[in-house]
Amino acid sequence: MEVIRVEGGYPVEGEVTVEGAKNSALKLMAATIMAPGVTTLTNVPNISDVHVMGKVLKYLGAKIDVTNEHELVIDTSQVTKWETPYHLVAQMRASTAVLGPLLSRFGKAVVAMPGGCNIGARKIDMHILGLEALGVNFQIDHGNIHATSPNGLKGNTVTLEFASVGATENLMMASVHADGITTIDNAAREPEIVDLANMLNEMGAKIRGAGSPVIEVEGVKEELHPVMHRVVGDRIEAGTFLAMAGICGRPVTVKGFEPVHLGLVLKKFETMGLSVDRGAHQCTAWREGPIRSIDIQTLPFPGFPTDMQAQTMCLLALGDGSCVITENVFENRFMFASELQRMGADIRIEGHHAIVHGVPGFSGAEVKAPDLRGGAALVMAGLVADGYTTVSQTHHIDRGYERFVPKLRSLGAHVERLEVPDPEEES
Ligand code: EPZ
Repeated sequence: MEVIRVEGGYPVEGEVTVEGAKNSALKLMAATIMAPGVTTLTNVPNISDVHVMGKVLKYLGAKIDVTNEHELVIDTSQVTKWETPYHLVAQMRASTAVLGPLLSRFGKAVVAMPGGCNIGARKIDMHILGLEALGVNFQIDHGNIHATSPNGLKGNTVTLEFASVGATENLMMASVHADGITTIDNAAREPEIVDLANMLNEMGAKIRGAGSPVIEVEGVKEELHPVMHRVVGDRIEAGTFLAMAGICGRPVTVKGFEPVHLGLVLKKFETMGLSVDRGAHQCTAWREGPIRSIDIQTLPFPGFPTDMQAQTMCLLALGDGSCVITENVFENRFMFASELQRMGADIRIEGHHAIVHGVPGFSGAEVKAPDLRGGAALVMAGLVADGYTTVSQTHHIDRGYERFVPKLRSLGAHVERLEVPDPEEES
């Protein structure tokens, strides 16, 4: 099996440029279904989740040319299918992002119920409730969701119970051609939502308020037209490298993203004792003094992002005191903590709270990546651990981090991918 092995004691330092945001690119790809013709997406990250979404689009009838590693030319003129196969949705929950586009284009869709994953049940009840308010009927049978809209989609006001990113996106896309105005209240405000709304408006949609809690979509009759669109920089990949600068101490400059998209994270990093220098489309972080323990609670944007929880817990596990990290977004996103305890961290989980007592240092160990961000955070812990840290289940990391090991090596880390015998196979 493949592992990432880190030798502790070699701090990261220097410059790295992040890719386009995974959590925008996947939805922009799905949205191309709504504009029959050839859309070009640039600054697309070369990661496995993008490859899976490519398979979904090809299954539906799209043609995709990868003109260069970070540019996709997607022709959706021949998309005729409106159902997605279970095996692809099971691989990646974000495949449900085709629901809104298929409803918008065909008035119907069949999407496999997304299974749960390592961080929670990942339900889509808010997607379904919101779309029903627009006149969509749902039947669920044999694990598939059958969505139809016999009388077309009608604009309506939908108040989301929770500012769900996926539900906001599906509602925004489904309502582009609805009859009348759709208002999404308590909408998610993530920068990736704004990126999607911007592209849809470039295509001819009429969406106002993206990035605010109230998004208004005025249904348009005309078909959307294809465009060229650049994916917004990945704030979470950037935050991950900035957190690594924080744990090692040396300055790392991260380019290719907007620091304003990490507003609260950078403020919290400064409170924790990191120095942060914000620039245009880049940010430098470093640390001279101790890591100060502070409480963190994750919330929808502009609150502290759940996707930065593991990386921040890694920092706080070496803090000068104790703190409480509260995970309000996912019901099961503390698996990383149990792996970090194998490296010497002192963390107690009580429901949605992790009580973290700072320890002087980590010791290298064999650990398993529980999910995408937890995996990256375990490699981050390995940078400062005593001895070697071996992280398995590396496929989680490859879902969202392009060239993770080469980027770390370019920053001076002693990190490598290795093939090692799989203990399961031996027994
Ligand atoms: C997106 O997931 C991101 N994924 C996640 O990033 C991110 O953590 C999350 O938003 C929150 O920011 C992509 O964009 C591909 P939600 P999504 O709908 O849309 C519950 C990463 O590491 N919920 O905001 O699935 C849900 O179970 C990934 O890059 C319902 O109960 O997130 C979760 O507990 C991980 N019913 C919470 O709400 C619903 O209908 C937030 O989910 C929808 C969601």
